[in-house]
Amino acid sequence: TFVVTESCIRCKYTDCVDVCPVDAFREGPNFLVIDPAECIDCAVCVPECPVSAIYAEDDVPKDQRDFTPLNAELALLWKPITRTKAALPDAGAWSTVQDKRDQLER
Ligand code: SF4
Ligand code: F3S
Repeated sequence: TFVVTESCIRCKYTDCVDVCPVDAFREGPNFLVIDPAECIDCAVCVPECPVSAIYAEDDVPKDQRDFTPLNAELALLWKPITRTKAALPDAGAWSTVQDKRDQLER
């Protein structure tokens, strides 16, 4: 499966969702996740993300590995998103912030 990691938080550009052939993305207030039960590992979403938040499960950086179970957990709670929409208002400012896990809203 593919995994959305920290850089998406408070950005949520949503360019990724339009290209997914199986509508695997789920939307929270300020972050998206990929439902591992739906993702078919096509990888087309990866280059769409302006902040490079999406990784194949095997390539998730060491300091981001907690996002793999987090995507699975939140995918059960959140609703599908299939169309790109406007990014969050301060996406530009948050796109360069490294440590922002504490900003994640559920
Ligand atoms: Fe969807 Fe493919 Fe990305 Fe999986 S890898 S979330 S199937 S676009
Ligand atoms: Fe997030 Fe990147 Fe998609 S910021 S919403 S993973 S395009």
